[in-house]
Amino acid sequence: MATIGIFFGSDTGQTRKVAKLIHQKLDGIADAPLDVRRATSEQFLSYPVLLLGTPTLGDGELPGVDAGSQYDSWQEFTDTLSEADLTGKTVALFGLGDQLNYSKNFVSAMRILYDLVISRGASVVGNWPREGYKFSFSAALLESNEFVGLPLDQENQYDLTEERIDSWLEKIKQAVL
Ligand SMILES: Cc1cc2nc3c(=O)[nH]c(=O)nc-3n(C[C@H](O)[C@H](O)[C@H](O)COP(=O)(O)O)c2cc1C
Repeated sequence: MATIGIFFGSDTGQTRKVAKLIHQKLDGIADAPLDVRRATSEQFLSYPVLLLGTPTLGDGELPGVDAGSQYDSWQEFTDTLSEADLTGKTVALFGLGDQLNYSKNFVSAMRILYDLVISRGASVVGNWPREGYKFSFSAALLESNEFVGLPLDQENQYDLTEERIDSWLEKIKQAVL
C-alpha cells in the first residue's frame, strides 16, 4: 500500500482540522499532516501520493500571496516546488472556501496548486462534481465542469463535509491503492 503524505496551509485553522480528519480516516496509510510553513521539499518529495489542502484567501489566492501578510504558507512553499520534478507522483487536492461570501472566487486557490503540480509532471486524481454548490465563479472548475479537487465549505455547508470527504477518499483509494 502507498504511504500518503498530507500537506496543508491554513490561516484560521479550518484546513488544518480537515487535514487531521482526512488523516484519521486514512487509518494507517497516511502520515500525520504537515503544515507547509514547517515542511521541507525533501519531505514533500518523499511521498508517491500527496493530498494537498488549502483555503482560498485574498482574492482567490493561496495563503501567502501577499508578501508581509499573515498568510505566509503555500505561496512560499510553491516557490520551493516550482523547479521540483513531480513525475510519477499522484496528487489529490482539497480546498476550503466560502461560496456565499466569496461567490466570485469560490475555492479558486486549488487551481493554483493544480496548475503547479501538473506543470511539474504529477498526475491529479480526485476531481469532484460541481453539483451541490452555489457560486458565480471558480478558477478551480475544469472545462469538464468538475472541480480539480474537493471543495469544502465550513461556513455554509459544514454538515456535508464529512460525507464529502468519505466519498472523495473512496475515489482516491481506488485510484492509488
Ligand atoms: C480575507 C479572506 C479572504 C477570503 N477569500 C476567499 C475566496 O476568495 N474564495 C473562497 O472560496 N473563500 C474565501 N475565504 C474563505 C476562506 O477560504 C474560508 O473561511 C476557509 O475555511 C478558511 O480556511 P482556514 O481556516 O484553513 O484558513 C476568504 C476568507 C478570508 C478571511
